[in-house]
Amino acid sequence: MKETSDMATPPATATTGATPVTNAHLGSLADVSSGAERHLPVVPESPVMEARDLNVFYGGFHAVHDVNLPYGRNEITAMIGPSGCGKSTVLRCLNRMNDLVTSARVEGQVLYHDQDIYAKGVDPIAVRTHIGMVFQKPNPFPKSIYDNIAYGPRVTGMKVDTMDDLVEEALRGAALWDEVKDKLKQSAYGLSGGQQQRLCIARTIATKPDVILMDEPCSALDPIATARVEDLMMTLRDDYTIIVVTHNMQQAARVSDRTAFFTARPDETTGNRTGLLVEFDLTTKIFSNPSDKRTEDYISGRFG
Ligand SMILES: Nc1ncnc2c1ncn2[C@@H]1O[C@H](COP(=O)(O)OP(=O)(O)OP(=O)(O)O)[C@@H](O)[C@H]1O
Ligand SMILES: [Mg+2]
Repeated sequence: MKETSDMATPPATATTGATPVTNAHLGSLADVSSGAERHLPVVPESPVMEARDLNVFYGGFHAVHDVNLPYGRNEITAMIGPSGCGKSTVLRCLNRMNDLVTSARVEGQVLYHDQDIYAKGVDPIAVRTHIGMVFQKPNPFPKSIYDNIAYGPRVTGMKVDTMDDLVEEALRGAALWDEVKDKLKQSAYGLSGGQQQRLCIARTIATKPDVILMDEPCSALDPIATARVEDLMMTLRDDYTIIVVTHNMQQAARVSDRTAFFTARPDETTGNRTGLLVEFDLTTKIFSNPSDKRTEDYISGRFG
Protein backbone atom coordinates (compact mmCIF):
# COMPACT_ATOMS: atom_id res chain seq x y z
CA MET A 1 0.00 0.00 0.00
CA LYS A 2 1.41 3.36 -0.95
CA GLU A 3 1.43 6.30 1.42
CA THR A 4 -1.67 8.44 1.37
CA SER A 5 0.33 11.40 0.16
CA ASP A 6 0.61 9.61 -3.17
CA MET A 7 -3.13 9.86 -3.50
CA ALA A 8 -2.81 13.20 -5.24
CA THR A 9 -0.99 11.72 -8.21
CA PRO A 10 -3.30 11.95 -11.18
CA PRO A 11 -3.34 9.14 -13.69
CA ALA A 12 -2.56 9.60 -17.34
CA THR A 13 -5.29 11.54 -19.09
CA ALA A 14 -8.13 9.24 -19.99
CA THR A 15 -8.59 8.92 -23.69
CA THR A 16 -11.98 9.24 -25.22
CA GLY A 17 -13.19 7.78 -28.44
CA ALA A 18 -15.56 5.07 -29.54
CA THR A 19 -19.32 5.52 -29.37
CA PRO A 20 -20.39 8.98 -30.46
CA VAL A 21 -23.19 10.08 -28.20
CA THR A 22 -25.57 12.83 -29.21
CA ASN A 23 -28.91 14.14 -28.10
CA ALA A 24 -30.46 12.39 -31.04
CA HIS A 25 -30.06 9.13 -29.15
CA LEU A 26 -32.24 10.33 -26.31
CA GLY A 27 -35.97 10.24 -25.88
CA SER A 28 -38.04 13.07 -24.42
CA LEU A 29 -35.73 13.64 -21.50
CA ALA A 30 -32.94 14.14 -23.98
CA ASP A 31 -34.45 17.37 -25.18
CA VAL A 32 -33.07 19.02 -22.10
CA SER A 33 -29.77 17.16 -22.14
CA SER A 34 -26.58 19.06 -22.70
CA GLY A 35 -24.20 16.88 -20.72
CA ALA A 36 -24.58 14.12 -23.25
CA GLU A 37 -22.95 15.67 -26.27
CA ARG A 38 -19.61 14.05 -25.68
CA HIS A 39 -17.80 11.18 -27.27
CA LEU A 40 -17.20 8.68 -24.55
CA PRO A 41 -16.17 5.05 -24.53
CA VAL A 42 -18.89 2.63 -23.48
CA VAL A 43 -17.09 1.94 -20.21
CA PRO A 44 -14.88 4.50 -18.47
CA GLU A 45 -11.25 4.09 -19.37
CA SER A 46 -8.83 4.39 -16.43
CA PRO A 47 -11.52 5.31 -13.91
CA VAL A 48 -10.51 7.69 -11.14
CA MET A 49 -12.53 5.71 -8.60
CA GLU A 50 -14.06 2.31 -8.50
CA ALA A 51 -16.31 0.49 -6.05
CA ARG A 52 -15.52 -3.20 -6.00
CA ASP A 53 -17.82 -5.73 -4.34
CA LEU A 54 -18.98 -2.98 -2.03
CA ASN A 55 -21.30 -4.08 0.77
CA VAL A 56 -22.47 -1.81 3.54
CA PHE A 57 -24.13 -2.75 6.82
CA TYR A 58 -25.69 -0.61 9.51
CA GLY A 59 -25.45 -2.90 12.54
CA GLY A 60 -27.12 -6.12 11.37
CA PHE A 61 -28.92 -4.43 8.47
CA HIS A 62 -27.45 -5.12 5.04
CA ALA A 63 -28.03 -1.74 3.37
CA VAL A 64 -26.05 -2.16 0.14
CA HIS A 65 -25.23 -5.39 -1.66
CA ASP A 66 -22.25 -6.04 -3.95
CA VAL A 67 -21.89 -2.79 -5.84
CA ASN A 68 -19.31 -2.71 -8.64
CA LEU A 69 -19.03 0.68 -10.28
CA PRO A 70 -16.29 2.63 -12.06
CA TYR A 71 -16.26 6.44 -12.10
CA GLY A 72 -14.67 7.99 -15.19
CA ARG A 73 -12.21 10.85 -15.08
CA ASN A 74 -13.62 14.28 -15.97
CA GLU A 75 -17.04 12.77 -16.23
CA ILE A 76 -20.24 13.32 -14.29
CA THR A 77 -21.73 10.10 -13.00
CA ALA A 78 -25.29 10.24 -11.68
CA MET A 79 -26.57 7.72 -9.14
CA ILE A 80 -30.36 7.47 -9.22
CA GLY A 81 -33.01 5.22 -7.72
CA PRO A 82 -35.91 5.14 -5.28
CA SER A 83 -35.61 6.40 -1.72
CA GLY A 84 -33.75 4.04 0.57
CA CYS A 85 -31.92 2.12 -2.17
CA GLY A 86 -28.54 3.15 -0.77
CA LYS A 87 -27.41 5.99 -3.04
CA SER A 88 -26.21 8.22 -0.20
CA THR A 89 -24.70 5.22 1.54
CA VAL A 90 -22.63 4.37 -1.53
CA LEU A 91 -21.69 8.03 -2.04
CA ARG A 92 -20.53 8.34 1.56
CA CYS A 93 -18.35 5.25 1.14
CA LEU A 94 -16.47 7.01 -1.64
CA ASN A 95 -14.74 9.38 0.75
CA ARG A 96 -15.12 7.41 3.96
CA MET A 97 -17.84 9.64 5.37
CA ASN A 98 -19.50 6.48 6.64
CA ASP A 99 -16.61 6.18 9.10
CA LEU A 100 -18.49 8.87 11.02
CA VAL A 101 -21.56 6.63 11.38
CA THR A 102 -20.75 4.35 14.29
CA SER A 103 -23.01 1.48 13.22
CA ALA A 104 -21.76 1.46 9.60
CA ARG A 105 -19.49 -1.33 8.36
CA VAL A 106 -18.04 -1.40 4.87
CA GLU A 107 -16.85 -4.52 3.05
CA GLY A 108 -15.16 -4.69 -0.33
CA GLN A 109 -12.95 -2.04 -1.84
CA VAL A 110 -13.14 1.53 -2.97
CA LEU A 111 -10.24 2.24 -5.30
CA TYR A 112 -8.97 5.76 -5.84
CA HIS A 113 -6.27 5.82 -8.50
CA ASP A 114 -6.01 2.08 -7.89
CA GLN A 115 -5.43 2.43 -4.15
CA ASP A 116 -7.98 1.06 -1.72
CA ILE A 117 -9.07 3.97 0.47
CA TYR A 118 -10.13 1.43 3.13
CA ALA A 119 -6.69 -0.20 3.27
CA LYS A 120 -4.82 -0.18 6.57
CA GLY A 121 -2.86 2.99 7.13
CA VAL A 122 -4.94 5.22 4.86
CA ASP A 123 -5.89 8.45 6.59
CA PRO A 124 -9.58 9.25 6.04
CA ILE A 125 -8.90 12.97 6.43
CA ALA A 126 -6.39 12.81 3.56
CA VAL A 127 -8.95 10.86 1.55
CA ARG A 128 -11.50 13.63 2.05
CA THR A 129 -9.11 16.33 0.86
CA HIS A 130 -8.84 14.51 -2.45
CA ILE A 131 -12.48 13.51 -2.58
CA GLY A 132 -14.63 16.42 -1.44
CA MET A 133 -18.35 16.46 -0.72
CA VAL A 134 -21.24 18.85 -1.23
CA PHE A 135 -24.36 18.11 0.77
CA GLN A 136 -28.07 18.29 0.05
CA LYS A 137 -28.71 21.32 2.21
CA PRO A 138 -26.28 24.20 1.78
CA ASN A 139 -24.25 24.19 4.99
CA PRO A 140 -21.99 27.24 5.10
CA PHE A 141 -20.05 27.77 8.31
CA PRO A 142 -21.21 30.62 10.57
CA LYS A 143 -18.37 32.72 9.24
CA SER A 144 -17.74 35.31 6.56
CA ILE A 145 -17.84 34.36 2.90
CA TYR A 146 -14.06 34.75 2.81
CA ASP A 147 -13.46 32.60 5.86
CA ASN A 148 -15.74 29.85 4.57
CA ILE A 149 -13.34 29.43 1.65
CA ALA A 150 -10.14 29.99 3.59
CA TYR A 151 -11.07 27.57 6.37
CA GLY A 152 -10.22 24.32 4.56
CA PRO A 153 -6.84 25.45 3.20
CA ARG A 154 -5.96 26.79 6.68
CA VAL A 155 -6.88 23.68 8.67
CA THR A 156 -5.30 21.30 6.20
CA GLY A 157 -2.11 23.39 6.21
CA MET A 158 -2.27 23.83 2.46
CA LYS A 159 0.63 25.77 0.97
CA VAL A 160 -0.88 28.94 -0.38
CA ASP A 161 0.85 31.91 -2.03
CA THR A 162 -1.79 34.40 -1.08
CA MET A 163 -5.05 33.43 0.52
CA ASP A 164 -6.84 36.31 -1.23
CA ASP A 165 -5.96 34.83 -4.61
CA LEU A 166 -7.06 31.39 -3.57
CA VAL A 167 -10.39 32.68 -2.26
CA GLU A 168 -10.98 34.55 -5.51
CA GLU A 169 -10.02 31.55 -7.63
CA ALA A 170 -12.38 29.25 -5.72
CA LEU A 171 -15.26 31.75 -5.91
CA ARG A 172 -14.66 32.27 -9.62
CA GLY A 173 -14.51 28.52 -10.07
CA ALA A 174 -17.91 28.23 -8.45
CA ALA A 175 -19.34 31.09 -10.57
CA LEU A 176 -19.98 33.19 -7.46
CA TRP A 177 -17.22 35.80 -7.52
CA ASP A 178 -19.11 38.57 -9.28
CA GLU A 179 -22.00 38.28 -6.85
CA VAL A 180 -19.93 38.39 -3.67
CA LYS A 181 -16.67 40.19 -4.44
CA ASP A 182 -17.82 43.35 -2.65
CA LYS A 183 -19.02 41.59 0.49
CA LEU A 184 -16.41 38.98 1.24
CA LYS A 185 -16.31 39.91 4.92
CA GLN A 186 -20.07 39.56 5.35
CA SER A 187 -21.67 36.49 6.84
CA ALA A 188 -22.28 33.59 4.46
CA TYR A 189 -25.74 33.33 6.03
CA GLY A 190 -26.70 36.52 4.19
CA LEU A 191 -26.52 34.71 0.84
CA SER A 192 -29.48 33.13 -0.91
CA GLY A 193 -29.85 29.34 -0.84
CA GLY A 194 -28.49 28.98 -4.35
CA GLN A 195 -25.57 31.26 -3.58
CA GLN A 196 -24.89 29.33 -0.37
CA GLN A 197 -24.75 26.08 -2.33
CA ARG A 198 -22.29 27.60 -4.81
CA LEU A 199 -20.31 28.85 -1.81
CA CYS A 200 -20.21 25.28 -0.51
CA ILE A 201 -18.96 24.16 -3.92
CA ALA A 202 -16.33 26.92 -3.80
CA ARG A 203 -15.36 25.76 -0.31
CA THR A 204 -14.97 22.23 -1.62
CA ILE A 205 -12.81 23.20 -4.59
CA ALA A 206 -10.65 25.53 -2.45
CA THR A 207 -8.74 22.54 -1.10
CA LYS A 208 -8.14 21.37 -4.68
CA PRO A 209 -9.78 17.97 -4.60
CA ASP A 210 -9.76 15.58 -7.52
CA VAL A 211 -13.27 14.24 -7.12
CA ILE A 212 -16.41 16.06 -5.96
CA LEU A 213 -19.26 14.04 -4.47
CA MET A 214 -22.67 15.70 -4.46
CA ASP A 215 -25.71 14.37 -2.63
CA GLU A 216 -28.85 15.91 -4.13
CA PRO A 217 -27.11 19.30 -4.36
CA CYS A 218 -30.12 21.08 -5.86
CA SER A 219 -32.98 19.60 -3.90
CA ALA A 220 -33.26 22.69 -1.70
CA LEU A 221 -32.99 25.12 -4.62
CA ASP A 222 -35.46 26.79 -6.96
CA PRO A 223 -35.28 26.09 -10.71
CA ILE A 224 -33.11 29.13 -11.47
CA ALA A 225 -30.58 28.35 -8.76
CA THR A 226 -30.71 24.69 -9.86
CA ALA A 227 -29.88 25.66 -13.43
CA ARG A 228 -26.90 27.70 -12.23
CA VAL A 229 -25.55 24.80 -10.19
CA GLU A 230 -26.08 22.42 -13.12
CA ASP A 231 -24.20 24.79 -15.45
CA LEU A 232 -21.48 24.97 -12.87
CA MET A 233 -21.25 21.19 -12.63
CA MET A 234 -20.76 20.93 -16.38
CA THR A 235 -18.00 23.56 -16.24
CA LEU A 236 -16.32 21.90 -13.27
CA ARG A 237 -16.27 18.60 -15.14
CA ASP A 238 -13.31 19.91 -17.17
CA ASP A 239 -11.18 19.91 -14.03
CA TYR A 240 -12.87 17.47 -11.68
CA THR A 241 -14.58 14.15 -11.62
CA ILE A 242 -18.12 14.57 -10.30
CA ILE A 243 -20.36 11.93 -8.76
CA VAL A 244 -23.88 13.14 -8.05
CA VAL A 245 -26.88 11.57 -6.36
CA THR A 246 -30.14 12.98 -7.65
CA HIS A 247 -33.85 12.26 -7.54
CA ASN A 248 -34.35 14.57 -10.48
CA MET A 249 -34.46 12.53 -13.69
CA GLN A 250 -34.18 15.61 -15.89
CA GLN A 251 -31.13 16.67 -13.96
CA ALA A 252 -29.47 13.27 -14.42
CA ALA A 253 -30.27 13.39 -18.14
CA ARG A 254 -29.12 17.00 -18.48
CA VAL A 255 -25.81 16.91 -16.69
CA SER A 256 -24.48 13.40 -16.44
CA ASP A 257 -22.36 11.35 -18.80
CA ARG A 258 -23.16 8.05 -17.14
CA THR A 259 -25.95 6.91 -14.90
CA ALA A 260 -26.09 4.16 -12.32
CA PHE A 261 -29.60 2.99 -11.42
CA PHE A 262 -30.07 1.41 -7.99
CA THR A 263 -33.07 -0.24 -6.47
CA ALA A 264 -33.88 -1.99 -3.18
CA ARG A 265 -34.85 -5.63 -2.86
CA PRO A 266 -36.80 -6.79 0.21
CA ASP A 267 -35.37 -9.74 2.15
CA GLU A 268 -37.94 -12.57 2.16
CA THR A 269 -37.65 -13.29 5.86
CA THR A 270 -36.95 -9.92 7.46
CA GLY A 271 -38.59 -7.64 4.88
CA ASN A 272 -35.53 -5.37 5.13
CA ARG A 273 -34.77 -3.69 1.84
CA THR A 274 -31.21 -4.07 0.63
CA GLY A 275 -29.94 -1.73 -2.06
CA LEU A 276 -28.31 -3.00 -5.23
CA LEU A 277 -27.06 -1.66 -8.52
CA VAL A 278 -29.36 -2.64 -11.37
CA GLU A 279 -27.72 -1.02 -14.34
CA PHE A 280 -24.86 1.29 -15.20
CA ASP A 281 -24.42 2.77 -18.64
CA LEU A 282 -24.05 5.92 -20.68
CA THR A 283 -26.80 8.32 -19.65
CA THR A 284 -28.01 8.45 -23.24
CA LYS A 285 -28.54 4.70 -23.16
CA ILE A 286 -30.16 4.60 -19.73
CA PHE A 287 -32.72 7.22 -20.71
CA SER A 288 -33.44 6.00 -24.21
CA ASN A 289 -32.99 2.26 -24.19
CA PRO A 290 -32.23 0.79 -20.76
CA SER A 291 -31.31 -2.88 -20.61
CA ASP A 292 -33.27 -3.72 -17.49
CA LYS A 293 -37.05 -3.46 -17.14
CA ARG A 294 -36.68 -2.13 -13.59
CA THR A 295 -34.71 0.84 -14.94
CA GLU A 296 -37.29 1.48 -17.61
CA ASP A 297 -40.13 1.34 -15.09
CA TYR A 298 -38.34 3.79 -12.83
CA ILE A 299 -37.34 6.37 -15.40
CA SER A 300 -40.76 6.27 -17.00
CA GLY A 301 -42.36 6.90 -13.61
CA ARG A 302 -44.10 3.54 -13.29
CA PHE A 303 -42.27 2.75 -10.09
CA GLY A 304 -40.40 4.49 -7.28
N1 LIG B 1 -27.02 6.05 9.79
C1 LIG B 1 -27.84 5.04 9.47
N2 LIG B 1 -28.15 4.10 10.38
C2 LIG B 1 -28.97 3.06 10.06
N3 LIG B 1 -29.51 2.88 8.84
C3 LIG B 1 -29.23 3.78 7.91
C4 LIG B 1 -28.37 4.91 8.15
N4 LIG B 1 -28.28 5.63 7.02
C5 LIG B 1 -29.03 4.99 6.10
N5 LIG B 1 -29.60 3.89 6.63
C6 LIG B 1 -30.48 2.95 5.93
O1 LIG B 1 -29.77 2.44 4.80
C7 LIG B 1 -30.66 2.36 3.68
C8 LIG B 1 -30.11 3.21 2.56
O2 LIG B 1 -30.18 4.55 2.96
P1 LIG B 1 -29.63 5.74 2.06
O3 LIG B 1 -29.77 6.99 2.87
O4 LIG B 1 -28.30 5.39 1.57
O5 LIG B 1 -30.67 5.71 0.86
P2 LIG B 1 -30.90 6.74 -0.33
O6 LIG B 1 -31.00 5.93 -1.57
O7 LIG B 1 -29.88 7.81 -0.27
O8 LIG B 1 -32.34 7.32 0.00
P3 LIG B 1 -32.93 8.80 -0.25
O9 LIG B 1 -33.19 8.86 -1.72
O10 LIG B 1 -34.20 8.80 0.54
O11 LIG B 1 -31.95 9.80 0.21
C9 LIG B 1 -32.04 2.81 4.16
O12 LIG B 1 -32.79 1.67 4.51
C10 LIG B 1 -31.71 3.64 5.39
O13 LIG B 1 -32.76 3.60 6.33
MG1 LIG C 1 -29.96 9.88 0.08
